[in-house]
Amino acid sequence: MKLAEFSPFFNCKLKNFLDELHISKPFKDVVSYTPLAGGKRLRAYLIWELSRYTGFGEENALKAGIAVELFHSGSLIHDDLPAIDNDTIRRGLPSSHIKFGESKAILAGDFLMLFPGRVFSSLDLETRYIHPILELWQETSLKVVEGEFDDVFPEDESREQMERIHAAKTGALFGFCFAAPFIREKREKIDEMYKLGVRFGKLYQMMDDIKDVISTESELGKTPGKDGKQNKLTILSFESLEEAQIEVKESFHSILGEIDSFTDLKKEMRDIYYLIARR
Ligand code: IPE
Ligand code: IPE
Ligand code: MG
Ligand code: MG
Ligand code: MG
Repeated sequence: MKLAEFSPFFNCKLKNFLDELHISKPFKDVVSYTPLAGGKRLRAYLIWELSRYTGFGEENALKAGIAVELFHSGSLIHDDLPAIDNDTIRRGLPSSHIKFGESKAILAGDFLMLFPGRVFSSLDLETRYIHPILELWQETSLKVVEGEFDDVFPEDESREQMERIHAAKTGALFGFCFAAPFIREKREKIDEMYKLGVRFGKLYQMMDDIKDVISTESELGKTPGKDGKQNKLTILSFESLEEAQIEVKESFHSILGEIDSFTDLKKEMRDIYYLIARR
């Protein structure tokens, strides 16, 4: 399935899932706002596509995709807060704290980032695979938070520090998306897929850093030009725009070379590159 086809299908499932949450209406309104505001759904899509090659199962793939996208939305709500990146627009709409106020946004972010634990413990898997997937999730979710901390408070300004931040704040979640469908396979295969996902995530964050400079607000659905103003450690702290764009292209091709056996995904990834290159 192509991402353009998957995304409306997924959005419908996500909406039903959120509608059925057993929380009060006012809380549900704020919890649902950012997840339903849009987003490319690339993380859920990767789980869905890779699951076709592993027998992880469509239901599990969808549930895991929902969990990951909820967590991602929660992390973006926190990322936009005045105390973190102070961004007023997300997915083309006012950020959660602008719409609902900071207290509600913080708590909705907490809920969205904690809820996936429950989803992963209830997947339809043989009991012996529940612990490994929960463990993989715990490592991943903790890494993202650590990465967000280091992004705001980097210990130094080195390229290595930037690489560590990118690997954590963005790479870990993609690592999980690449690896989760393989949870019933050997440890080495899970680790190999996780590492490939982290590499993809680092590349994805580089693209995000580049887009912060070259794209418009309507393309991004968020405020451009913020990284420079906030002195963020990005790929453009070390390379010119042209150099960074070449590095991203090369890195993308090198990752494509590693997903040869996932024929359909590889084909679609070429189109995804052009989709994510600007928004
Ligand atoms: C934004 O992620 C934050 C980063 C890790 C770069 P996306 O660009 O995937 O955001 P959505 O989900 O499409 O809104
Ligand atoms: C990624 O970093 C955010 C998370 C991993 C939560 P950014 O701060 O660059 O993301 P945007 O640009 O605000 O989407
Ligand atoms: Mg940030
Ligand atoms: Mg940000
Ligand atoms: Mg950014």
